[in-house]
Order: sequence, then structure tokens, then C-alpha cells
Amino acid sequence: MTEQECYMPEKFILQHPAIDMQHEVLFVLYNELLHTLQSCEDEYDLADIFLGLNVYVVSHFQFEEDAMLASGYDEREKHMEGHSQLRLGVGALHARFLAASSREEAREVAQAIADFLLEWLENHIAKVDRRLTQYLLEQSVQ
Ligand SMILES: [Fe+2]
Repeated sequence: MTEQECYMPEKFILQHPAIDMQHEVLFVLYNELLHTLQSCEDEYDLADIFLGLNVYVVSHFQFEEDAMLASGYDEREKHMEGHSQLRLGVGALHARFLAASSREEAREVAQAIADFLLEWLENHIAKVDRRLTQYLLEQSVQ
């Protein structure tokens, strides 16, 4: 991947290759969402992105949660609560997106999902995932 194709700001690189790569994919999906919102593509494209995002978020969280369980990480419960907050927050907004009665409303909700996702990613990766990856690297869990 060239530097130009890299969407995740460098400050979020945690030195854990598998988790960094998965976070990078989340940023790629976030950027795809922004690009679709800014261009004139229709709601089908947004719906497609949300579908991909939902599937990827579930598998990424599962990866981290499995690593926490396998390594005996003692902040596992608290970390999983953070994952639940994203699932619930995006889930509620996604339901509003699906029920939108106009194009404008759908785009507004899609923008709210993008804002929520970025804020969550920045906070969660910078603090919660940083602690986890430091622990995993100390335990030599890749
Ligand atoms: Fe996490």
C-alpha cells in the first residue's frame, strides 16, 4: 500500500500488525462513506457501505475479544463495553437510515453515522486499543 492510499493517520498505528491492518480497513470504509456522501452517488451505495461496515466491525471486534480472552486480559469486560457502545450507536442510526422517508433525511443520518464512527474510532483506538495492543505485544500475542 502506498502512502497516498493510506487513510489511517499515523498516530493510530499501534505496532500490532493484525490489529493495525484491521483498523486501517475501518478507516478505508469511513473514507469511502465520506466520499460517497460528498459525491452524488445514491442511497444504494450508502446502504452497501453500511452493510460492509457492519460485517467488518463484527469480525474485527471478535478478533480483539478472542485475543483478550486467550491472553487473560483483565480489562476485557470494560473494553467489550466500548465495542457494544459502537454497535448500539451505529445500530440505532442505521435503523434510522433504513427508515428515512426522504433522500435528504437518509443523507443526514449517513453523515451522523460518519461523525459518530470517526469520533468513536479516534477515542477507542488512541486509548482503549492502545492499552490492549501494548499488553498483547508484551505477551507476544500477534
Ligand atoms: Fe477495541
